Amino acid sequence: MKILSIETSCDETAIAIVEASGGLKAPRFRVLENIVSSQISFHAPFGGVVPNIAKREHLKNLPVILERILANSESKISSSKQAQNAAGKTPNMKVDAVAVTVGPGLEPALWTGINFAKEIHHNHFPGSKLVGVNHMEGHLYSFLLTQKSQFPISHFQFSRAKISPAIGLVVSGGHTILLLLKSLTQWKKLGETRDDAVGEAFDKVARMLGLPYPGGPEIQKMAENGDEASIDFPRPMMRGKNYDFSFSGLKTSVLYYIKDHESQFKSNKFIEDVAASFQAAAVETLVYKTAKAAKEFKAKSIILAGGVAANKALRDALQAASHELHVNFFAPPMEFNTDNAAMIAAAAYIQILKKKNRRIAAQANLTL
Ligand code: KG4
Ligand code: ZN
Repeated sequence: MKILSIETSCDETAIAIVEASGGLKAPRFRVLENIVSSQISFHAPFGGVVPNIAKREHLKNLPVILERILANSESKISSSKQAQNAAGKTPNMKVDAVAVTVGPGLEPALWTGINFAKEIHHNHFPGSKLVGVNHMEGHLYSFLLTQKSQFPISHFQFSRAKISPAIGLVVSGGHTILLLLKSLTQWKKLGETRDDAVGEAFDKVARMLGLPYPGGPEIQKMAENGDEASIDFPRPMMRGKNYDFSFSGLKTSVLYYIKDHESQFKSNKFIEDVAASFQAAAVETLVYKTAKAAKEFKAKSIILAGGVAANKALRDALQAASHELHVNFFAPPMEFNTDNAAMIAAAAYIQILKKKNRRIAAQANLTL
């Protein structure tokens, strides 16, 4: 099944074409086209995402990206045919489904993607299904994506027995969720953050340190040269009985530490040590609770997903913990950690197989 997917929930405008096969037992995804256009430079001066700027940029970017995607894909189908203008003539390519993120996310941003999806579905792919997708399910399934060059060698010759029960840790700019997956399609939420999402904490701490938005990759960079043992930041709720998280106390401790050491603020070493010590505290909390859940529920695998899954310290620590527990560790290929449309196609395929229909309307607070 060929799926054209659209993602506009936040500050990335993304479109992909993905070939999905294998059914619910062993889903496989070959990413044929994948374009992500980041709006970071427009939002960075404001230190975060501005919804109306996101909407304006999505409106501008969507037709341009679609045109490029269709041109790439059609030039592969027939080199003699000129690529069609996406806004005008009907493309030669056939798709089985048009998928679009309906939430969670910024409402004005979500609507631009939804309206665009409806329009191209109606104008160009009227025989296909129109599927509304939960962005967080996209993240969750992103570990199943394979770059086109790798196909058909599946990095993923798994049997379901090796995956589930699984513990899923979904960590992004808006969410920090721990899941127990009975199967790839059935899960229960074990816990989530009670305040800030971990990605949000990375972004806020980066801002305190004078680093640009988005802060996660910047903290990671600074942390590489820092001493993570130099400052003993708290690990909030780590030893608690439940599987919830809290990152606001950690963020406040960093703020007080910076205020108390104002005279050192200009030194690079200071920023590197704060970044490394903060990252170590956040990673330790996430890994401790994930490993504890894996033990308690006798998991066969640990699945890491979401933008913060790009963090090397977190990936390495969770991989090491999985190894120690003798469970498999799955994380998305690097290009599919942060927001992209390929993951939306993956979630759409599974949703189609489950015969689940979702409202094609923005649902800003949709959850897992
Ligand atoms: O999943 P995502 O792209 O968007 C949301 O759905 O929120 O996640 C974005 C979040 C941001 O908070 C960003 O700072 C964080 O992921 N992030 C990272 C890294 N790369 C992105 N956090 C820590 N280390 C990274 N390397
Ligand atoms: Zn996301």
